[in-house]
Amino acid sequence: MNKKTVRDIDVKGKKVLVRCDFNVPYDESRKITDNRRIVAALPTIKYLIENDCKVILCSHLGRPKGEVKPEFSLNIVADELTRLLGQEVKLAKDVVGEDAKRLASELKPREVMLLENVRYEAGEEKNDEELSKKFASLAEIFVNDAFGTAHRAHCSTTGVASFLPAVSGFLIEKELNFLGTALENPERPFMAILGGKKVSDKIGVIDSLLEKVDVLMIGGAMAYTFFKSMGYEVGNSICELDKLNLARDIMEKAKEKGVKLMLPVDTKLGKEFDPNTESKTVPYTEIPEGWEGYDIGEKTIEMYAEELKSAKTVVWNGPLGLFEFEQFAVGTNKIAEALANIDAIKIIGGGDSASAIEKAGLAEKFTHISTGGGASLEFLEGKKLPGIEALQDK
Ligand code: 3PG
Repeated sequence: MNKKTVRDIDVKGKKVLVRCDFNVPYDESRKITDNRRIVAALPTIKYLIENDCKVILCSHLGRPKGEVKPEFSLNIVADELTRLLGQEVKLAKDVVGEDAKRLASELKPREVMLLENVRYEAGEEKNDEELSKKFASLAEIFVNDAFGTAHRAHCSTTGVASFLPAVSGFLIEKELNFLGTALENPERPFMAILGGKKVSDKIGVIDSLLEKVDVLMIGGAMAYTFFKSMGYEVGNSICELDKLNLARDIMEKAKEKGVKLMLPVDTKLGKEFDPNTESKTVPYTEIPEGWEGYDIGEKTIEMYAEELKSAKTVVWNGPLGLFEFEQFAVGTNKIAEALANIDAIKIIGGGDSASAIEKAGLAEKFTHISTGGGASLEFLEGKKLPGIEALQDK
């Protein structure tokens, strides 16, 4: 990485503002259901504590859209950090207001505090200069470790970097090392598995991966747009009728580039959007009216698993079916298992595919599971991430 990290500047005893991505899922009782993003931020926080810093953490949680809404409070994150660090993490009552300023000024070396949800401030998502200055006035150094939010140009991710020495934390460094190396210098065969609902959401990443991979496997609802573009009926399956030419162009480009583009050969259908709906598996050429495709079929699972056996690098983004419903999670889970058992560099591009692997208890079998959903997708597309661009060069 060509950006400075906390190792490259003198942080000893300094007051440091750290942007993390603590945007974690939680249930109705506000219990955190997956703390991976908090755990992933710990190495940087611990490094700063060990270096006698006064540590001010900040993050967004959800999308409160500039309003103070208690259901988006970071209190659940402060509690989890307190538990994980084994020391109190005080939560400010506001973001850059009187309480935050007071707590920040009273902070002693090795103490850690957390600002309230940065998106309580209306200026945050507008990258408002005055708000960025207020963030900067709290500290002497800015550390961005929020990989999951690095694709957003907001005050707490980019704006504040104009007013303080700004470097990256260890999580951003690690994410870029894994994702960057996989893309720039992959061990071959290099294969990508792409799932998700829409071709239009994934076109950027498909385009960019077609320049790099040897094999591209498609799954998820996006497959039905491909089937339709080949002239087959898809019943009630999700299909982007205005993207049929795009799907044809992708198939053409894959041919030109010598990339093996693999599409499902069979599909598991459901009658209704219901976890217990009646289901059946058919070849992709025979989807009847009144049925909707929710998963890849057994033959496709076998075919993809067989192909993956020879892979040396695999990047996976997006579930291969409606994995929230158990009976349509089979494709995603079986491919996760197949991947877990092969000896290759295996990188999961965050979001739903990462949740599926966590849920299946297979996380340890993967080289890297990104903490970024949208951010890793934009990185795989070859886009520059503003939260990283804003940091000091080495
Ligand atoms: C994410 O969960 O992808 C990040 O935390 C960014 O959240 P956002 O999409 O609300 O900006």
